[in-house]
Amino acid sequence: MTTTTFGQRVFASWYLNFMSRVDRAGQADMRREQLAHARGRTLEIGAGNGLSVPHYPGDLDALVLLEPNAALRARLAERTDTPAAVTIVDGDAHNLEFPEGSFDTVTASLVFCSVRDPARALREVHRVLRPGGRFLFHEHVRGTGVRAFFQDLLTPMQRRLADGCHANRDFESYLAATDFEIESIDHRRMPTMMSTIVPLVVGTARKR
Ligand SMILES: C[S@@+](CC[C@H](N)C(=O)[O-])C[C@H]1O[C@@H](n2cnc3c(N)ncnc32)[C@H](O)[C@@H]1O
Repeated sequence: MTTTTFGQRVFASWYLNFMSRVDRAGQADMRREQLAHARGRTLEIGAGNGLSVPHYPGDLDALVLLEPNAALRARLAERTDTPAAVTIVDGDAHNLEFPEGSFDTVTASLVFCSVRDPARALREVHRVLRPGGRFLFHEHVRGTGVRAFFQDLLTPMQRRLADGCHANRDFESYLAATDFEIESIDHRRMPTMMSTIVPLVVGTARKR
């Protein structure tokens, strides 16, 4: 069982309003595009308050929503637009309490900026997928040039204000270092005024 800190409760109090605006400005289309590839037994790590939930295909065998923040889990439980076979669980992406090869699909949206050890979390995603299973991601990432300079500068403050969120997380390098076969990786822009979180990737990776 994970413990929810004061900072996580504060994050839960403003995140939905902030992100709902970004979703309405176009982020929701990227979620739909990302999740259209979900099949079979699906696990979403760091599901937050469930902004991705309405965008899953309706014919999944099961959808497990894992969220360590109790305040966000409570909001997940209140959603009425979840597919029928949904389960909400506490848990930590660094230590997934599922057997090897137990999912056809694992998804993450805007999660790898916040996890303490992205390499370890990616190993866990890889472990719980069956061979041939897919990891569907949608993450804000480190930019280049002046943007990267400001991301480095602002990350210590952003981590404090946004539950550990690193503006400068080089998710693509972490992914490239795994055993996944990267099938697609599209570079997009998050429709937000916060230029430190604008660079975004949406894609799929397959467990060989
Ligand atoms: C920026 S929010 C994104 C929420 C949601 N996925 C979305 O797209 O709106 C980051 C999420 O990652 C979760 N998270 C942070 N560290 C985690 C970990 N170690 N394991 C699982 N989830 C984690 C947070 O609790 C939070 O829900």
